[in-house]
Amino acid sequence: DGAAMGSATAKDGWSSRAGFILAAIGAAVGLGNIWRFPTLAGESGGGAFVLVYIGFVILLGLPLVLSEISIGRIGQTDALGSFERVAEKSGASRSWRGIGALGGIAAFLILSFYSVVAGWVLYYAGVMAGELGSAIASGNPLGGAFAGESVDDIQVRLGDMLGNPTLLLVMHALFMAVTWFVVSRGVHSGIETAAKYLMPAFFVLLIGITIYGAFEGNFGEAIAFLFTPDFSKLTPPVINAALGQALFSLSLGVAGLITYGSYLSGKDGLGGTSATIALADTGVALIAGLMIFPIVFAAGLDPAGGPTLVFQSLPVAFQSMPGGALVGFLFFVLIGVAALTSSVSLLEVPTALGIGEKKWTRGKSATVMALGAFLIGILALLGYNVLSDVRPLAFWSIFENADILDSIDGFTGKVMLPLGALLTSVFVGWIADRKLMATETGLSAGALALWRFLVAWLCPIAVAIVLVTGLFPAIL
Ligand code: PHE
Repeated sequence: DGAAMGSATAKDGWSSRAGFILAAIGAAVGLGNIWRFPTLAGESGGGAFVLVYIGFVILLGLPLVLSEISIGRIGQTDALGSFERVAEKSGASRSWRGIGALGGIAAFLILSFYSVVAGWVLYYAGVMAGELGSAIASGNPLGGAFAGESVDDIQVRLGDMLGNPTLLLVMHALFMAVTWFVVSRGVHSGIETAAKYLMPAFFVLLIGITIYGAFEGNFGEAIAFLFTPDFSKLTPPVINAALGQALFSLSLGVAGLITYGSYLSGKDGLGGTSATIALADTGVALIAGLMIFPIVFAAGLDPAGGPTLVFQSLPVAFQSMPGGALVGFLFFVLIGVAALTSSVSLLEVPTALGIGEKKWTRGKSATVMALGAFLIGILALLGYNVLSDVRPLAFWSIFENADILDSIDGFTGKVMLPLGALLTSVFVGWIADRKLMATETGLSAGALALWRFLVAWLCPIAVAIVLVTGLFPAIL
């Protein structure tokens, strides 16, 4: 196929369509699938949330994935430049490039706290490695973790970790450094190569732990929980959360897929590629649910445990389950791998902006952006200890109780991401030249009509509703 080889210049890019798909799946699959999705599904009562989420992925997510990749491939440059080029070719104002700038800022801000949370994952992988070591030393490599500890002993680790700024800083620095290393090596040698090795490893671990859960956990209860919809649970906030999750999980609204799409060349259709990415991301979220909830139910834990589900509840389960130390270690390695291929995409968006707009070298741009996000991340992690009284968005009622990390997370997730997705759908549905976009997608007539309808009507309206009700929940 002519994915990248069609280009006459020796521009850095994907070596094949498969390389692009793997990297894009790597970007989409992350903490959002393995930590955020089970948390939300658990808190929102399971099946009904899952069904609505899947509906949004198909009706909104997929058309936007196709839109972003198409803009990128037409533009052949960073997000800002890509919007500008499509606008120019469509006879529209150049100011539409602002969407690209917005995406770059959003990706930069998300990276700052994403790396902090990934740092927690690294720490827990380290803790579990220690537990595995003890199990092996005691002659029982398939033993549980945390031998002889009480539930409190196990769970207090999270609070202790969050109260230790030095520890958080070291882990955050470590994770950001690895992200920076991959991105500075470039699209082909860095990002694609990392995805090529990490994604297969990820899938092996994911399937392996899920099979383990099916045998050792309560698989039946997990299936019932995730797939039996109780429609009385479908409140407006739950529907809202499902759409927000669909956008976040598919990495939409931050120009990530525009940036990755710009490293594609050739003319092949993009419909199948987009469907593959959306399907893989959603499949991983569902499998992650089937990996986590059997363990949760078997240990008698609360599925609505919230954000601490992964860091406090599961470790308790890893104590009692056979092979718990080993599986617990592999579990946190799995999350770390998923987080890395996503953080790489988050750093690539602003890095590409620096290269394309400021004419910086890749090395300089990646360094400046990673360093900047690292510094903001320090504020986020200090918010758990030294700066724990700080509420940066206290003036805004929906964020008034949010600490620093939650404020950045909330502002990007509730404001910037839906805004980016909204503007992108308006741009593609109403501003960009129809023929230009249609040709780029390579869709057949029927699919094209459906895609146009979804992008021009359903996406803007649905995302606008989420944006407004997310900002003014009193409406609901
Ligand atoms: N989709 C990623 C995840 O699920 C998060 C992400 C959002 C990555 C936006 C890039 C851009 O973890």
